[in-house]
Amino acid sequence: MSRSSSAARVAAALLAVLLAACASTAPAPTLYQRLGGQAGIDALALDLLERSAADPRIRGDFAEADIVNLHERLVEQLCALSGGPCTYRGRDMRAAHLGLGITEADFNALVENLLDAMRARGLPVATQNELLALLAPMQREIVQP
Ligand code: HEM
Repeated sequence: MSRSSSAARVAAALLAVLLAACASTAPAPTLYQRLGGQAGIDALALDLLERSAADPRIRGDFAEADIVNLHERLVEQLCALSGGPCTYRGRDMRAAHLGLGITEADFNALVENLLDAMRARGLPVATQNELLALLAPMQREIVQP
């Protein structure tokens, strides 16, 4: 083997080691990043609200709501929950939904709309499930007797 070809092989091996080290230390993308960052979450929240405000099962709940504020708060909340650089400045979930009479069926309808919105954006099922798992515990605050 010539000297130059073994030097090339050493260089290639070094490069492979460096690339492997790089791949193993690169942090996995956060849920926030996988949702498309600020722009992705903004569009997702808007789609969810549009679907819900048009959904005969739950649109009555949104009739009196300040949708612009709701959208802003929801974006902040989803951003903060998914590891993004935001602070949620809205009310806690119990206070925000107090007196709205939201039932388990209403909650499930909204979750269905969220799933449809995530599918429409082509988000992978694992990403969809991760977001749903973060929201599921809120059900007991939102559905009130
Ligand atoms: C996991 C599910 C849900 C999340 C993460 C969520 C999140 C939020 C947030 C962040 C706000 C704004 C709070 C604030 O302004 O301080 C809000 C308000 C509101 N939510 Fe939800 N929500 C959920 C489920 C639901 C459901 C199932 C309904 C009805 C079917 C609903 C109807 C409303 C309405 C009408 C408001 C506005 C209340 C007002 O203007 O006073 N939400 N929600």
